[in-house]
Amino acid sequence: MKFFIDTADIGEIRQANQLKILDGITTNPTLIAKTGRPFMEVVEEILAEVPDKPVSLEVASTDFEGMVKEAEILAKLGDNVVIKVPMTIDGLKTVKYLEERGIKTNMTLIFSPTQALLAMKAGATYISPFVGRLDDISQNGMELISQIRTIVDNYGFTSEIIVASIRHPMHVLEAALIGADIATIPYKVIAQLSKHPLTDIGLERFLKDWQSVPEKPF
Ligand code: G3P
Repeated sequence: MKFFIDTADIGEIRQANQLKILDGITTNPTLIAKTGRPFMEVVEEILAEVPDKPVSLEVASTDFEGMVKEAEILAKLGDNVVIKVPMTIDGLKTVKYLEERGIKTNMTLIFSPTQALLAMKAGATYISPFVGRLDDISQNGMELISQIRTIVDNYGFTSEIIVASIRHPMHVLEAALIGADIATIPYKVIAQLSKHPLTDIGLERFLKDWQSVPEKPF
């Protein structure tokens, strides 16, 4: 299972990258806006930090011509740039166009299995179903991931499933149990995955008992 980080914050990306378990980065316009910094400055820093891992950058147009024009600008920034395209009719055309020209795509804002099916048929490298936002409206986000997994397995589509809009460790666990290819995770949740109260209690006890061991080498 691959771990992506869902952020445009270079500090968070660096911290996650130091763990050496990071496989890629996903951003979106909201995450870029949150940094309060110029777009190119943010993107250049991210690409320099992870020159060999996929970095999803999202287009801001909604029509085919506009999306293609923006995608071509973004794709020139690095070989590892993946173009994030919204799930619309024009988005599907854009994905097909870019994939035929060797530009990798990530179809985003996927909320139903049929949207995922269309994105996979268009040839998207990655598809991003949003689990947290479905949970927010009382629909089971992880059920969507199971359904997409079944469709991929039925037909052998090559698109990788990125579980997006992850809010807590249970989303990551369920994604792993279902067999999603990738989870794109906020830094806070990556940190939460390492935590267990029994680990803290156990470590405290070991450190206390270590004090009474005679003739220690360190
Ligand atoms: O990057 C797409 C997705 O992960 C957004 O998450 O928390 O804004 O629903 P969220």
